[in-house]
Amino acid sequence: MNYPLISKSQNNITPNFPDYQKTYKEFSWEKGRKEIAYFDDGTVNIAHNALDKWKGSETEHKTAFIWEDDETSRSFTYGDLIAETNKFANMLSKLGIQKGDRVFMFLPRIPELYISFLGTLKVGAIAGNLFAAFGYEALEDRLADSEAKVLVTTHELEERVKKVKDQLPHLKHIILVDAEATEHGEISYSREMKAASDQFETAHMQESDPSYMLYTSGTTGKPKGVVHTHGDIVQEHITGKWILDMKANDIYWCTADPGWVTGVVYGIISPWSNGLTQLVHGGRFDPDRWYSLIEKHQVTVWYTAPTAIRMLMTNPELLKKHNLSSLRYVCSVGEPLNPEAIVWGQKYLNLPIHDNYWQTETGSIVIANYLSMDIKPGSMGKPFPGIHAGIIDDEGGELGPGKEGDLALKKGWPSMMKEIWKNPKKYESYFKGDWYITGDRAMKDEDGYFWFIGRADDVIKTSGERVGPFEVESALLKHPAVAEAGVIGKPDEVRGEIIKAFIKLKPGQEGSEALKEEIQKFIKEELAGHAYPREIEFRDTLPKTRSGKIMRRVLKMEELGQDVGDTSTMEEY
Ligand code: WT7
Repeated sequence: MNYPLISKSQNNITPNFPDYQKTYKEFSWEKGRKEIAYFDDGTVNIAHNALDKWKGSETEHKTAFIWEDDETSRSFTYGDLIAETNKFANMLSKLGIQKGDRVFMFLPRIPELYISFLGTLKVGAIAGNLFAAFGYEALEDRLADSEAKVLVTTHELEERVKKVKDQLPHLKHIILVDAEATEHGEISYSREMKAASDQFETAHMQESDPSYMLYTSGTTGKPKGVVHTHGDIVQEHITGKWILDMKANDIYWCTADPGWVTGVVYGIISPWSNGLTQLVHGGRFDPDRWYSLIEKHQVTVWYTAPTAIRMLMTNPELLKKHNLSSLRYVCSVGEPLNPEAIVWGQKYLNLPIHDNYWQTETGSIVIANYLSMDIKPGSMGKPFPGIHAGIIDDEGGELGPGKEGDLALKKGWPSMMKEIWKNPKKYESYFKGDWYITGDRAMKDEDGYFWFIGRADDVIKTSGERVGPFEVESALLKHPAVAEAGVIGKPDEVRGEIIKAFIKLKPGQEGSEALKEEIQKFIKEELAGHAYPREIEFRDTLPKTRSGKIMRRVLKMEELGQDVGDTSTMEEY
């Protein structure tokens, strides 16, 4: 908080959202709805807004999508994407897929992911994305819970699915995007797409009808299916326009993977709904490559994440090799953005980085730093118009400036999750009266800026990705050498947090480096490439409550060198 205020942008570009105070006062979601393309009968479809609405306009012929991995590149106009998604929608219809059915994508960042996602929405089916790093257990949990009927994947990734296929009675069709001929009754994407018509009538949906779902982790239990609606488009569109300042002539790059919510909302829907050209990099993170992409494609607006920025910060020399002057606006999301990163942006990119805040459950950005507003480095900014954010106490009473409490939002914004899939109890647990409780601790200052303090629960944020300790612990317990496991997020300079596991081994097991590596590999395959413990510590005992629950809080305090305090309620210590 000791960093000086950064005055609002002085460049020549007029922000789409020039006056925060005024708009915040005057805005209503009804006004926001005027920006959306509804069908004549008052219904809507996200895919219609992202693609079909451009038919017949100049935008139809403009480049919507530049895709590049480390070997090849492809590009698509809006017209191309309309045709491709229509074909995909026809392909699903032919398989008998109907409104409300679940169609899941288990794909790396390749064009087929973007096409199948929007094609699914056109049918009115619920699209679900699975991060390509997921292991078989993570896949089984999500595909079984969602009862997905169709899975779109690649030959290589299908190997993981095969292992759990028998546990998935609802999974009727596997579509392979990279196979002409198939061996086990899978469907060839390319063959079907060739045969399909490029005309399709996009399904008319109520605003409250489900559109997509994503699984996310809490402190306990299996991951939960967060369901969103077609009505989300109101906020998806307008936050892209007003917060990310998307303009038709922008070359926009969102670095998030569509396996996570940022990659869905601001990496598929919002940019195309705003009619700009978006870049997607199919390859892995690589600083030199990333800078080259900005330079080569003349990226103007860049939406990325703190961990990536911190990794870039470690190598300022690299910047000298590149000219990044095409950039006009840089935003960040997903975890706390340290003030140093904002200062780095000013120094090396000549642009302060604008932090914003939201969650899988909120469906769109809810708190942000705006181009037209001064930045207080370290603050997440102010609530978006139409959003009432507050800091509340345990009883749901709103606290005044300077007080730490639970960050909460008055329920009812358009992109608020509709339900937790098949788990109404969990859904209800998010609310206290009129308030939706985010699970984050925060503070609001006298000027109405919000400051993130930390999670209220044990959820881990590693490289911006949300990982539930319970999932990791459960996976660890499946390893034959592990008797007990407690998992925490350990603060890390670059990744925000890393996953650390404390393990009590079974009798007769020796805690060696080799065993650590074996366990890490096991978790990568079982759960996910990003969810394995980078650090493992073997212990003879783990702190537990009388009822036998492992006390992560104690493990964390010990790790941080803090006083553990009263240990009298602990059974083992
Ligand atoms: C959690 C949500 C943001 C969409 C993608 C991640 C943390 C998010 C910030 C920020 C500090 C942040 C919170 C939140 N978070 N943005 N600007 N500063 N923390 O969505 O995976 O559902 O994670 O990410 O803890 O609750 P998600």
